[in-house]
Amino acid sequence: MNKYWIFWWFIAFLTAFVWAMFTSSALPIFFLFFFNSIWLFLFWQNIKSKISESESFLTSQLTASAKDNVLKSQQLATLITHIPSPLALVDINGELVIINDRFTKLMTKKEPAVNFQSTSLPVDVRYFIRESYLNELSNYKTIHLDGIDYQALSIPVKNGNRYGGCLIILQDITRVLEGERQQKRFIADASHELKTPIASIKGMAEILNRPEFDDIQTQKDFLRQISKEVNRLETVVADLLFISKMSSNKMYLDIVKNDITAVIRQAYDSVKSQFDRKGVSFKFLKQDIFIETDSKQMYQVFSNLLSNAIQYTDSGFVEVNIKESEDKINIMVTDTGTGISESDLPFVFERFYRSASDRSRESGGSGLGLAIVKSIILAHGGQITVSSQMQQGTAFTIELPIINTKLTIR
Ligand SMILES: Nc1ncnc2c1ncn2[C@@H]1O[C@H](COP(=O)(O)OP(=O)(O)OP(=O)(O)O)[C@@H](O)[C@H]1O
Ligand SMILES: [Mg+2]
Repeated sequence: MNKYWIFWWFIAFLTAFVWAMFTSSALPIFFLFFFNSIWLFLFWQNIKSKISESESFLTSQLTASAKDNVLKSQQLATLITHIPSPLALVDINGELVIINDRFTKLMTKKEPAVNFQSTSLPVDVRYFIRESYLNELSNYKTIHLDGIDYQALSIPVKNGNRYGGCLIILQDITRVLEGERQQKRFIADASHELKTPIASIKGMAEILNRPEFDDIQTQKDFLRQISKEVNRLETVVADLLFISKMSSNKMYLDIVKNDITAVIRQAYDSVKSQFDRKGVSFKFLKQDIFIETDSKQMYQVFSNLLSNAIQYTDSGFVEVNIKESEDKINIMVTDTGTGISESDLPFVFERFYRSASDRSRESGGSGLGLAIVKSIILAHGGQITVSSQMQQGTAFTIELPIINTKLTIR
């Protein structure tokens, strides 16, 4: 059916009219009737094909949007399921209409329909949801469940201008609280560590300041003691600053390929006098092993380990062994000293930790040495472990990558 139909129709009428003028038969009427029938038939066919075209277009559009909706709801379900925190949506009637897997795990039993009063919810969670739902306000609370600390949050959901329920999210804050606890303990330990030498210096300074004090020998002893305590304070403050920089990622490592055996020898030189005094031998034979490290920090690692080793070894030897493999090296620092008890062993890398025996207290150590060693090794992408036998000796094993892909500068 083309768009010139009106023209053809007009021609047909004109033909029929002229025909009728010159003949007095009914044929032109039949012709017109016949022509109109054909035209109506074609017109109807055209309409039908247009309707079916629109129908199929509408169907395809509807199928696409239905598919899109299914996809979107699947994506939403995946998103909700994979949110790593327990999550629930409470509707206007107090029903928990959406619950993710993590939330289901908190419930004592599975129920087909859960509402804000359901006893399958842990008591604290139930009270929190109840309070949030009934008050229609945002709410938060710390909840402790099965050894995990959660920060429960409730966010009111609006339906137009009306309250439509609330969204409940429980965030695991165990590590945050543990971090806070550690920080508080660190500050308390650090203050204690600083308080002791300060109190001792203060006491001696007060005595020295007394007008009647004139004992020259005691004066000399006190001054020597004050100088010792000040040195100790200086070391503790430097160690604390180092640890704080390390843990806040503000320490820049100057990673360069260098000979680790030269660094170990330098570290030994710094404590050699103590070895000589005690008559403890030092065994180290390896030659030139080049790995990517910050040599200054590595010097600190080995001088801490060797000074500990000689401090707790009265006879025998201290040995450093290196094993190389394709991409890493293992360095073992072994001594034949007092050893560390099984109960102390898990804690020796903790800041301020000193073993139960008060030997290290006598030595003036602050228990920061191994914490520093560990933070340096971890920053290099390595690992450190310790094994020990009482009265037999101790072995520290350091694993380091040969090529430091983890970082060049931190
Ligand atoms: N080689 C070792 N043999 C026996 N005990 C050790 C050895 N190395 C470390 N320890 C134990 O681990 C504790 C922690 O060591 P760390 O080096 O951190 O502190 P410190 O030596 O007491 O003080 P600092 O190193 O800060 O001066 C020591 O107090 C000691 O009890
Ligand atoms: Mg030490």
